[in-house]
Amino acid sequence: MKIAIGNDHAAVEMKNALIPYLETKGHTVINFGTDSEESCDYPEYGEKVALAVKEKQADCGVLICGTGVGISLAANKVPGIRAAVCSEPTTARLVKAHNDANIIAFGARIVGLETAKDILDAYLSSEFEGDKNPRHKKRVDMITELEKKYN
Ligand code: RB5
Repeated sequence: MKIAIGNDHAAVEMKNALIPYLETKGHTVINFGTDSEESCDYPEYGEKVALAVKEKQADCGVLICGTGVGISLAANKVPGIRAAVCSEPTTARLVKAHNDANIIAFGARIVGLETAKDILDAYLSSEFEGDKNPRHKKRVDMITELEKKYN
């Protein structure tokens, strides 16, 4: 899979550990930074990864900041993006299966590296269940409609 990854200063160390982890599993990772631990603004990196996913430069995205919240809020402002913050693997599996999340986010100050790996494994090995369960597709379509209604 082609994965776009982005983060703020709080998550450089975690991102640097996760890139080789993903590559070892056969994924191609496009790194949108930041690669510096100097304070920066997470919306910038949320936008970069969101655009890469929206424009299909990547199959999905991974966003990491201190909590995972700020950077996912920013990404979710880009139409077509469904970025979901997870702190454990069950949610990571279900945001793909039920919500068709195209970006997974988590907090480097909230989860440890091993949990982050488990979150990624759960998310990347799951499939959207919209075909099996049309109700999931209907609800995701409703989110898209909301996006159109208020834009
Ligand atoms: C940066 O200090 C911190 O606010 C940021 O990483 C993130 O947690 C915001 O949601």
